[in-house]
Amino acid sequence: MESEASVIIAGNWKMYKTNIEAVDFIKKLGEKIAPTKAQVLLAVPFTAIASAAKEAEGSLIEIGAQNMNDASEGAFTGEVAAKMLIDAGAKFVILGHSERRRYFNEDNAFINRKVKRALQEGLKVILCVGESLSEREAEKTEEVLQNQLKACLDGVLEDDIKNLIIAYEPVWAIGTGLNATAPVVEETHLVIRQILATLYSEEVVKRISIIYGGSVKPANALAYIDEPNIDGLLVGGASLDLDTFDQIVNYQHHANT
Ligand code: PGA
Repeated sequence: MESEASVIIAGNWKMYKTNIEAVDFIKKLGEKIAPTKAQVLLAVPFTAIASAAKEAEGSLIEIGAQNMNDASEGAFTGEVAAKMLIDAGAKFVILGHSERRRYFNEDNAFINRKVKRALQEGLKVILCVGESLSEREAEKTEEVLQNQLKACLDGVLEDDIKNLIIAYEPVWAIGTGLNATAPVVEETHLVIRQILATLYSEEVVKRISIIYGGSVKPANALAYIDEPNIDGLLVGGASLDLDTFDQIVNYQHHANT
């Protein structure tokens, strides 16, 4: 990455880890990451947010959630509101993840309402966008990203953008081992920045962090971070194992050993 802001390394635990496992991981990670220059974010399951946030207090790790409802509260059985996440200690939320779009039929309009609610309540948002394999093969990547970004950010004010991170996650690269190469991601992040520039002022767009997610591992992490327009990583599978995630978080250290 190019700017002076720190690299963002975010872990997405998906539906893994109990409270005991989460606390143990965070305790050990906190001890290991003292030398990192990265900003470390961990999106944990709802049930582990409170204990993870307590364990992360005073460390360099920020705890967040992987989803929320768009309403401020109400009769929505089984749902969780932004203010409940904040109450439990979450600082951010991942929204628009392709697994939520695919398995839970979340569309851009719903994601847009969640983005606005989260920002309004004071949560940082990691907004995921990305094309499927057939869309990339049909050269529709730009069109898909444009549709997703325009719809998901509809009505989101320039002032709130400082609390927004965009995660470019090509659907074909998530959990498949088929990571998009660093040059492909770099090129796509430039496209994303161009789309954002049609929505917000240049000054603001320059400061939006765009991170990459999809089969990131210690062996490929550094290649992404070296690119000027890749501001960090969203790591799924490789964030579940302490040593593996530590190697990604402490990439500077590991790059020199
Ligand atoms: P993966 O997942 O690293 O396991 O591909 C990334 C994500 O879903 O955010």
